[in-house]
Amino acid sequence: MKKYVLVGAGSRALYMFAKPMSTEWKDHVDFRGVYDSNAVRAKLLSEECGQVPVFSDFPEMLAAVKPDVVVVASTDYTHHEYIIGALTAGCDVISEKPMTIDEEKCRAILEAERMSGKKVTVTFNLRFAPYFAKVKELLMNDVIGDVYHVQLEWFLDRDHGAEYFRRWHSELNNSGGLLVHKSSHHFDIVNWWVDSHPKQLQAFGSRRVYGDHGQPKGERCMTCDYKDTCEFYKDITKDPFMKKYYVEAEQEDGYVRDRCLFDEHIDIYDTMGVNLAYENGAILNYSLVAYSPYEGWKATINGSKGRLELGNIYRSADMSEAEQFTIKQYKLDGSTELIPVSASIGGHGGGDAKLRKAIFEGGVADPLGQQADSAAGAASLLIGAIANRSIAEGKLLSVPHLWS
Ligand SMILES: NC(=O)c1ccc[n+]([C@@H]2O[C@H](COP(=O)([O-])OP(=O)(O)OC[C@H]3O[C@@H](n4cnc5c(N)ncnc54)[C@H](O)[C@@H]3O)[C@@H](O)[C@H]2O)c1
Repeated sequence: MKKYVLVGAGSRALYMFAKPMSTEWKDHVDFRGVYDSNAVRAKLLSEECGQVPVFSDFPEMLAAVKPDVVVVASTDYTHHEYIIGALTAGCDVISEKPMTIDEEKCRAILEAERMSGKKVTVTFNLRFAPYFAKVKELLMNDVIGDVYHVQLEWFLDRDHGAEYFRRWHSELNNSGGLLVHKSSHHFDIVNWWVDSHPKQLQAFGSRRVYGDHGQPKGERCMTCDYKDTCEFYKDITKDPFMKKYYVEAEQEDGYVRDRCLFDEHIDIYDTMGVNLAYENGAILNYSLVAYSPYEGWKATINGSKGRLELGNIYRSADMSEAEQFTIKQYKLDGSTELIPVSASIGGHGGGDAKLRKAIFEGGVADPLGQQADSAAGAASLLIGAIANRSIAEGKLLSVPHLWS
């Protein structure tokens, strides 16, 4: 059985990896250690996960455990440090998306992987959600022929969208903004559907709802004078997990999860558009807003033999309560067909559980190519990172092809 260690003890680390590794996957995964810069959170995770040893330092954990696999689920701006450290120590890596947040760190990761001969897997769970997988299957079966154009509109609601502006994600240096942190999921899906490499893009971005526009504000919801009037007031102490893992761990590192949405440090965009050309000639029009009255996505895919119209509206941020389960196919003769998709159950439309099976069981058949490697991680994050540069410079830019 392979030895695993985990970096990060936040919500994703706990629910996606630590709990399953210490329960349903314990016969496949020898879970030997956790490290988080916040020792309080790491200890809480350990208590919920079979008292897995907590380490106070990453190199010490590598030296003591000599793991086969390092799972990286810490904040985005720290991924490169742990991925490179793990590869250099001779370990395979399972990294949460985005693999990292900018081009320079991406180059360093790819170089470390090449030198080590080890492998980085990026956990793009959306590829495993039935709806996205069904589209890939239809495209592979040539249902609309060659893909010429994709339109993808993604909208986060005023609860889920606002969440990114309350904490570390709200600063470009921490997350690469939503175009890296969030859209890397979406760019990966389109890269996978189109089956080509991103070539050139032009992007636009602005901050219309969140950030400092001179409106009345506080430091954080918990102590705010405008609790009774602010649309976005949130009492995080009402959620027992938030209270225990974050509020009561604040004294360790000052990580506040209910920072004011109008804080002057916020420099990421809440309104974004990207036009992208692929090496095979396909074009993507993409948009993301983070303040929609409802949550979901809509897409159209135009090909040489017809068109697919699809979309999904859901009431929960992790897509577990999705509404629509059909794809509409338009053929060139004008006829249409409704293609059913099996209902999505569980986190990220059932994607999380299927992804765990693929990474922990190993040797799982992969006819759709759902298991994403560092090349997929790089292509998706680079679109976001280059889009950020395009917004800043007001230019059409090339996306560097860093992977083989
Ligand atoms: N695939 C998905 O659908 C999905 C969903 C949510 C989050 N994520 C990803 O999972 C990761 C964690 O997200 P989260 O929502 O749990 O965030 P979080 O803020 O709840 O947890 C991040 C953890 O990293 C720790 N940390 C910060 N700096 C560190 C450092 N230098 N060294 C070690 N640990 C450090 C923090 O103390 C915290 O415990 C992110 O990369 C995020 O993008 C992926």
